[in-house]
Amino acid sequence: MFSPESDPSRHITQASHSPSTPETFDFTTPDIAHITRADFQNIYEPAEDTFLLLDALQTECQFLRERKPLMCLEVGSGSGVVSTFAAQMLGNKTFYLCTDINSKAAHITKQTGSENNVNLNPLLADLASPLLDRIAGHVDLLLFNPPYVVTPPEEVGRPGTKAGIEASWAGGKDGREVIDRLLPCIPRLLSPSGVFYMVVLKENRPNEIAKMLIEQNMEASVILSRRCGVEFLAILRFVRKY
Ligand SMILES: C[S@@+](CC[C@H](N)C(=O)[O-])C[C@H]1O[C@@H](n2cnc3c(N)ncnc32)[C@H](O)[C@@H]1O
Repeated sequence: MFSPESDPSRHITQASHSPSTPETFDFTTPDIAHITRADFQNIYEPAEDTFLLLDALQTECQFLRERKPLMCLEVGSGSGVVSTFAAQMLGNKTFYLCTDINSKAAHITKQTGSENNVNLNPLLADLASPLLDRIAGHVDLLLFNPPYVVTPPEEVGRPGTKAGIEASWAGGKDGREVIDRLLPCIPRLLSPSGVFYMVVLKENRPNEIAKMLIEQNMEASVILSRRCGVEFLAILRFVRKY
């Protein structure tokens, strides 16, 4: 079982959420009734990993509101449910950008926002590549539920090719091939008070992921972790170290 305590090198700390948090929050999951069974043949259907990320964001609501984020970027938005949830929680003073390598996902992300009365701005893009120069240093909230499943490398979604449903989960070697392409961009994308949340699977070696960002002057903590069937999932949070 993955836990920061059982990890001898202890790169990741356990985030403490004080029981004296002044407000408790209880948001409902965004409405996705407009997405059909046929759509879910082509885009990722919200699952345990998605809901763990929503639970983590809810747990972090106070912390995030205090930071007054102006720009949120979700990489790999799929159905759009995560960015919609963030927008419901944080309100319309934040600008919500989303990317996905799958054109159908980008289209449905926009719809999910509209159906839930929030304005999302999806782009068909590989990770954050076309945006990097323009938004570097301005992302206050960065969200990533990556394709993390260990698969043969040829199943991984590649930039410049038409991505389908397999790109939702196929992570290649150690489930890390897509993750490892985004990680070097994180310190560059985040604003000085920016926060990055990502879903990881035990097999992705979360401690190694944390070490890569800690070496770039960031702090790592685990917000939530849960066994979901055969998967052991966690939500990691990264902020700059001062
Ligand atoms: C596990 S799904 C998560 C979907 C949604 N965020 C959620 O939590 O339900 C991963 C998403 O990342 C997208 N994706 C995969 N590779 C990508 C890439 N290189 N750039 C952008 N999006 C990518 C997939 O198409 C898919 O929508």
